[in-house]
Amino acid sequence: MRTTLRIMLSLAVLILLTIGIGFIQKAAGEEATHVGAAKCKLCHMKQHKIWAESGHAKAFEVLKPDQQKDPKCLDCHITGYRITKQAAPEMVGIQCEACHGPGSLYIKMHSKKDKEGAKKAGLIVKPDPKSCKSCHNPDSPTFKGFDYAKLWEQINHPK
Ligand code: HEC
Ligand code: HEC
Ligand code: HEC
Ligand code: HEC
Repeated sequence: MRTTLRIMLSLAVLILLTIGIGFIQKAAGEEATHVGAAKCKLCHMKQHKIWAESGHAKAFEVLKPDQQKDPKCLDCHITGYRITKQAAPEMVGIQCEACHGPGSLYIKMHSKKDKEGAKKAGLIVKPDPKSCKSCHNPDSPTFKGFDYAKLWEQINHPK
């Protein structure tokens, strides 16, 4: 009798563990994807307006038609192109998510005003100045140097 109980208990533990691990794997496996600046605009009108008037919003349009098809140029002129290798129309230019991280997961936390949850879901609250240099570097054919303090002032978008 006691052994049967023990076996049943260990089985129950095993089943629970399997389900648990399954959940963890599912949560960890869900990768955030880019949603596009139009989705951020709904709640961040002020920042969106400043951004829309900046060079970053027009970073795809400055390319000539042949250059818009050249993968060598797109890494730094389309949001997420380095990862997705896709030129989706809603992702062209250097959008919010190029700096703040892909938003499909944290945008759900945002609607609940869950700041910590949003960070855990990948929101980069204060992008590191070093991250600018992933594009602003000598691999850019037009590079003339990068002075963070000066350039940040041109794209600053406070609350
Ligand atoms: C449903 C509304 C909503 C949407 C959509 C939304 N946000 Fe937010 N966001 C908020 C709110 C609310 C806050 C918190 C503001 C505060 O506390 O001052 C916030 C804060 C932020 C912050 C600053 C975080 C902090 O702790 O100060 C960043 C950066 C941000 N959002 C980026 C984005 C980006 C990028 C997108 C699009 C991918 C986006 N948000 C979409 C509502 C939204
Ligand atoms: C994913 C690539 C990428 C990242 C990351 C990036 N930039 Fe840019 N940036 C560009 C491209 C491409 C242009 C040229 C756009 C144009 O001329 O229309 C540009 C242009 C600019 C300009 C001139 C346009 C204007 O509005 O006056 C400033 C200023 C600037 N970036 C600042 C920054 C800062 C500061 C950061 C980091 C917080 C940053 N950039 C991060 C790609 C990037
Ligand atoms: C080129 C990179 C870049 C882009 C593009 C960008 N941001 Fe930011 N954003 C930053 C940086 C860097 C900061 C943090 C500045 C600081 O040190 O406080 C910031 C700060 C913010 C904040 C917090 C402001 C505050 O005063 O606390 C919000 C909200 C925000 N961004 C939303 C957006 C939205 C929405 C978009 C697109 C419409 C966007 N950002 C596009 C780099 C960027
Ligand atoms: C390593 C990232 C990167 C790559 C790759 C890149 N660019 Fe850019 N591009 C930038 C940045 C950053 C700027 C903003 C000016 C600067 O600092 O170079 C820019 C600006 C521009 C501009 C705006 C004009 C100007 O002088 O500001 C044009 C046009 C341009 N790039 C064309 C191209 C073409 C064509 C290619 C492909 C052959 C290309 N870029 C590849 C990052 C890049």
